[in-house]
Amino acid sequence: MKVRKAVIPAAGRGTRFLPATKAIPKEMLPIVDRPTIQYVVEEAVNSGVKTIVLITSRGKSGIEDHFDLAPELESLLQKKGDQKTWQEVHALAGMCEMISVRQQEQKGLGHAVLCARQAVGNEPFAVLLGDDIMDADPPVTAQMIRAFEEFGGSIIGVLNVPREQVHLYGAIKGKEVKPRVHRIERIIEKPSAEEAPSTIASTGRYLFTPRIFDFLEDQAPGRGGEIQLTDAIDRLAKIEPVYALEYQGLRFDAGEKIGYLRANLHYALKRPDLSAGVKELIREFSKKI
Ligand code: G1P
Repeated sequence: MKVRKAVIPAAGRGTRFLPATKAIPKEMLPIVDRPTIQYVVEEAVNSGVKTIVLITSRGKSGIEDHFDLAPELESLLQKKGDQKTWQEVHALAGMCEMISVRQQEQKGLGHAVLCARQAVGNEPFAVLLGDDIMDADPPVTAQMIRAFEEFGGSIIGVLNVPREQVHLYGAIKGKEVKPRVHRIERIIEKPSAEEAPSTIASTGRYLFTPRIFDFLEDQAPGRGGEIQLTDAIDRLAKIEPVYALEYQGLRFDAGEKIGYLRANLHYALKRPDLSAGVKELIREFSKKI
């Protein structure tokens, strides 16, 4: 069955970026001149996804507005004759179908994904976390869809991380079934460096069979008192094959300040209109340190 839907959880409070996120959703913080969530939605759409299920909460309507038409702004741009900007702004509304579901209480990532159950229905679906920005060709979600088509089970996007960082992630124990593909035996949410079964860490990209919902439905709270997606995956892996794919590409942790700045520099350097200025900046700052 084709993967047509993707869930993007965007209900979190974004406390790590306060006060910037006091009145705007953290998903709307820009990387260069696009909100972070736009990179994630584009990854999904460029991977063949037709419908995005956005999990939101109070104060997040700016995200929906971003992917809607903006008649006043658009006619202003046309009056100014700024066709290029109009095109960019206008295209955002037609990228995909977007369904919003409110998560009324923030009970954890697993609960956020469960909120999408009705909108997803009985078909495989992707999950993309907005803090993880990927620069990859083909897009990471497309690589995962390809693996899903080959292996037929749920797929977790993973990277090998330094052991001192493994406590920030879900870490897997698995058997390599093919270079860069592991069949998962266990996945543990944020283990200590000593507890971690390996340094292969889940990094914000998932592709699930709808069976995951059955496990999320009765998942007991885990780490931090939250309903953890990782705990439901661990149970799912015991009854049907779940694979970890070491995808190819660059990942930026935009949920953390240095990672966010790194993403900004990376994407600015890729921009023909900005790269010379950014290189100049880097030279200027290098002299000061
Ligand atoms: C979440 C997941 C974790 C995963 C991580 C990837 O944690 O719970 O399993 O490894 O995203 O970014 P968070 O970073 O939201 O605390």
